[in-house]
Amino acid sequence: MVRLGISGAAGRMGQALINVVLQNPQEYAIGMLLEAKANSMVGMSIGGFAVVDDIKAGTDNFDVFVDFSTPIATMNHLKELEFAGKPVVIGTTGLDQNDVFEIETMAKKIPIVMSSNYSVGINVMWKLLREATKILKDDYDIDIVESHHRMKKDAPSGTALTTAEVILKTKGLEPKGHMVFGREGKENKRDRDEIGVFAVRAGGIVGEHTVIFGSMGDKLEISHTAFSRDTLAIGALKAAKFVAGKKTGLYNMEQVLGL
Ligand SMILES: NC(=O)c1ccc[n+]([C@@H]2O[C@H](COP(=O)([O-])OP(=O)(O)OC[C@H]3O[C@@H](n4cnc5c(N)ncnc54)[C@H](O)[C@@H]3O)[C@@H](O)[C@H]2O)c1
Repeated sequence: MVRLGISGAAGRMGQALINVVLQNPQEYAIGMLLEAKANSMVGMSIGGFAVVDDIKAGTDNFDVFVDFSTPIATMNHLKELEFAGKPVVIGTTGLDQNDVFEIETMAKKIPIVMSSNYSVGINVMWKLLREATKILKDDYDIDIVESHHRMKKDAPSGTALTTAEVILKTKGLEPKGHMVFGREGKENKRDRDEIGVFAVRAGGIVGEHTVIFGSMGDKLEISHTAFSRDTLAIGALKAAKFVAGKKTGLYNMEQVLGL
């Protein structure tokens, strides 16, 4: 049984996590539901558990902290979790390079899983993309199109950025400088090694990512669609079980799944 501290409890992913936890009482329990001070759910209950606004109030109540909130909130929580010596699953995207550097340093003291996407399908897609990139080599241009709901704050998605990184690293290229975010202009032909990343925002789309490999003779698309946030929540809870058994270290979802 893993007792969970859930951050961003009233948010879309928080709600999905709570639902999956309540459906699996043998495996998981709620230890803390955390929200922003300004959130109207603070002081109310979700699924019979009070929503609090101060992580310091109950770090003893959970074994693993699962955070799908905002970059600023996540980085603040991590300081308390490092102090309390608690394992963490980071779902929040939009973290910058300094944040990632701090997380790498903290992972020398506490175990952390961090992934821009906790669905099994996307993690398998990254594995397939490494294979496809190696086989297709430089004969194929590669671009990425991602679509999400209209409320999503960061663009392009963390998953699209990780996807571009996976491909560029497989090609032996530095991710920085090889990603192009949208294209416009009269003289704007693509470079061979660039990856264009395009973000669609529409209605309630949970998450779609398509990688296009195009040669002069054919096109291959590798595509993933998330139908519901449950698939992401189930993956994040698998990561919580995994990280509960670790002492220190920074892990990704491919390691959790043993891919
Ligand atoms: N890694 C993944 O698989 C994955 C999947 C979906 C979403 N995400 C990311 O997770 C994050 C949340 O996504 P969402 O769709 O649930 O967003 P959301 O806006 O619906 O929910 C975020 C919640 O965090 C709360 N919050 C803000 N500050 C807080 C604080 N200090 N303490 C606790 N809670 C706080 C907000 O009040 C809100 O309820 C985003 O960064 C999103 O991109 C990651």
